[in-house]
Amino acid sequence: MKTVLVIGIGAGNPDHLTLQALKALNRVDVFFLFDKGPAKHGLNDLRRDLCTRLATERPWRLVQADNPERGPDGDSYTGAVAQLNEDKQQVLERLMDQHLADGECAGILVWGDPSLYDSTLRILQAILASGRQVFEYQVIPGISAVQALAASHKVTLNDIGGSVRISPGRQLPTQLAPGESQVVMLDAHQAFERLRGQGLFIWWGAYVGSVDEVLIAGPLDEVADEIIRVREQARMRHGWIMDTYLLRPISRR
Ligand SMILES: C[S@@+](CC[C@H](N)C(=O)[O-])C[C@H]1O[C@@H](n2cnc3c(N)ncnc32)[C@H](O)[C@@H]1O
Repeated sequence: MKTVLVIGIGAGNPDHLTLQALKALNRVDVFFLFDKGPAKHGLNDLRRDLCTRLATERPWRLVQADNPERGPDGDSYTGAVAQLNEDKQQVLERLMDQHLADGECAGILVWGDPSLYDSTLRILQAILASGRQVFEYQVIPGISAVQALAASHKVTLNDIGGSVRISPGRQLPTQLAPGESQVVMLDAHQAFERLRGQGLFIWWGAYVGSVDEVLIAGPLDEVADEIIRVREQARMRHGWIMDTYLLRPISRR
């Protein structure tokens, strides 16, 4: 039987790696790495570094494949993502077919935690359902960007007894529900702008946990312009940006 370990590696700080993930790294015969282009080489450099420094108990090999690109969203964002996942499924099936022998263990290093805005589990389930590969898989949780953001700002995600909503930028509502804290990820367009003037506090962070971490916190109306400026400068400097933020009424901060 083939085995696939889906290993959450944390959100950019090598020290995010858990002991469970460390043990998993040392079971792997072949690491599958997906290349997302030159701008994101830094993300794979971290993965390679983790393998080299920490997977020391047995020989392993690394196989890299180009990550398929998402086509234009057109009428449907979910349609574009579904197509992307089908393309990724084909790539992963090929890797498992050509580079993973029966009895061997593959490792896929997932940014943050595999349960949050990551399609690896969906893709593995689709491969199993297709019957084209037979394997078992295990999931090793990681520290997500959300937890890393909260830790860096020394803030709780929820207000006492309140709930937390996590959504991508394009689904940010124009008003927060009463008693709710809002976390926003995958926001290329500073969706927080549409919540100005509502007495909200924002805890914003980019490259959280990494040496490039940038944090800004304050009343949204006072710091929104600064976040937009700092965000753009950082994006230009690195060629890409990953940022996350938490919003809550100032009265409940
Ligand atoms: C495709 S999702 C992956 C999330 C990941 N699975 C997790 O658990 O954090 C990518 C989004 O995560 C957030 N993100 C990931 N790493 C981050 C970091 N180090 N700092 C800030 N945001 C981060 C950003 O919102 C980014 O757009």
